[in-house]
Amino acid sequence: MKNIVVYDSGIGGISIYRQLKKMLPNADFVYYADNAAFPYGEKTSKRLVEIALNNIREIKKQFDTDLIILACNTVTCVAIETLRKAFPDTVFVGTEPSIKQAMQYTASNILVAATTLTAQNARVRARFPQNNIIWLAMPELAEMVEKGEKDGVICDYIEKLAENVPPFDCVVLGCTHFTLIKDLFAGVFVGKKIFDGAQGVAQYVKNMKYKEYRNETQGLTSLCLTDPNPETYQKYVSLLREYN
Ligand code: DGL
Repeated sequence: MKNIVVYDSGIGGISIYRQLKKMLPNADFVYYADNAAFPYGEKTSKRLVEIALNNIREIKKQFDTDLIILACNTVTCVAIETLRKAFPDTVFVGTEPSIKQAMQYTASNILVAATTLTAQNARVRARFPQNNIIWLAMPELAEMVEKGEKDGVICDYIEKLAENVPPFDCVVLGCTHFTLIKDLFAGVFVGKKIFDGAQGVAQYVKNMKYKEYRNETQGLTSLCLTDPNPETYQKYVSLLREYN
């Protein structure tokens, strides 16, 4: 039996998991959150590559898998190439800000909200050199989402950070934690179109690889946390159950 592993630093990857679960209800999933090292977005790239390599080693030791979804923009930007080289027998599917989709929607400014590491990442910035892209780091937002901060506090935070950016047409959520609060973004940026990559990633997985898993699986989801304290574990179980 082979599992599809969905890997993030915390709950953000559940935004991808829920789309995968909808499209592939019979697949067996492992939701793997490295909550001991959360947040990823404020680490150095070098440190995050080491962390990601260790986690993949651990995943490969514990689970029968050759398909790992990096349900984290930050890990994808910083480490996907290294991971592909280090584990050539494994398929890695990354999550990147849906800038291409946004560019089909508008020729004017696009605001990309992301963690600090993603917003500063040279590789992803080089892929989108257009000058209508405004990269905006929201350093504390993933943590607010992870700990379930009040909606009002989150909205104030987003509003404050966006205060001085030039006018823009649409928003790209470049962090999977932000996708979980898409409705709050919509409340702050009234009337703006908001893009996230969750559905695109799930569709990609469905098209590309699932066939090979279909006959052997039972539609089960396992959970693995790197800091499995009972309270946090229970919170994750409840969140995952919402989509089962
Ligand atoms: N969910 C992760 C992402 O998409 C980041 C959260 C964190 O900073 O750990 O980038």
